[in-house]
Amino acid sequence: MRDLPIVRSVADLRASLSEFRRAGESIGLVPTMGALHEGHLTLVRTAKAANTRVVATLFVNPTQFAPHEDLSAYPRDEAGDRAKLAEAGCDLLFAPDVSEIYPQGFATSVSVAGLTDHLDGIARPGHFGGVATIVSKLLLQSLPTRAYFGEKDFQQLQVIKRLVRDLDIPVEIVGVPTVRDTDGLALSSRNRYLSEGERRIAVILPQVLRETAVALAGGGPAAPVLDRAKERLLAAGFTAVDYVALCDEATMQPLSAAVSGSRVFVAAHLGRTRLIDNWKVG
Ligand code: PAJ
Repeated sequence: MRDLPIVRSVADLRASLSEFRRAGESIGLVPTMGALHEGHLTLVRTAKAANTRVVATLFVNPTQFAPHEDLSAYPRDEAGDRAKLAEAGCDLLFAPDVSEIYPQGFATSVSVAGLTDHLDGIARPGHFGGVATIVSKLLLQSLPTRAYFGEKDFQQLQVIKRLVRDLDIPVEIVGVPTVRDTDGLALSSRNRYLSEGERRIAVILPQVLRETAVALAGGGPAAPVLDRAKERLLAAGFTAVDYVALCDEATMQPLSAAVSGSRVFVAAHLGRTRLIDNWKVG
């Protein structure tokens, strides 16, 4: 397998991409923080199916880690990621250092109001500001035809769609359905931290989520159903539940009963590992 070309500066990224553009090629961008799994690689394959060139980015963005989260513990394996990306059909990897992205004096941030009022906007203070800022930068650095993000991080996907609309960034944002393990657990870089015992408990999460979505589909009061889901997760061995919530997909505002376009969102801890997932109602 050929080595995947890698660039580390914005100038080199732009030089490579302008060659693609001059040749009339379309560009699909897949931003990641590395530690790649089939979820990420599905984004790459989806991008490859619709664009002649695919560019992945690998940058563990320090500004999207909340104060209580351990940035230094985030898994890193650039060589392994590079090989997986090449295999999946990626054409170029942008893997900058922190100083390339946030040089001395960096002072600008992007924040998206409303969509970030709830769920991870509360549980992870500062997180979406960090995501919105880095994604704005990556989109403006590469100006791709399309950019691909997973529905696994549904609130993030909505934040990105909104900032692109609000800032008139000329790119199509494509949401890709969540890739799951055979037992239903959403693939995540964090699953590697689960002990065998925790991994067995983790499978309850998508089960409870799916059953909660079915129970809410009738349109009855959401609160008792959501409370029951939370109790089931704790009874199964989850150590804490940040939220089990019913929200409108477009606005990310909580709903007291399901309407069309509702989705259930969950964030729960198994020891030191935090898992999130979501499921469409109806
Ligand atoms: P990261 O967690 O590495 O995820 C990169 C992309 O892969 C995101 O769009 C995420 O939603 C998607 N993804 C992760 N697991 C998935 C799964 N099981 N199925 C489908 N897609 C999945 O999300 C980030 O990085 C960062 O916040 C980033 C957008 C790169 C900005 O720093």
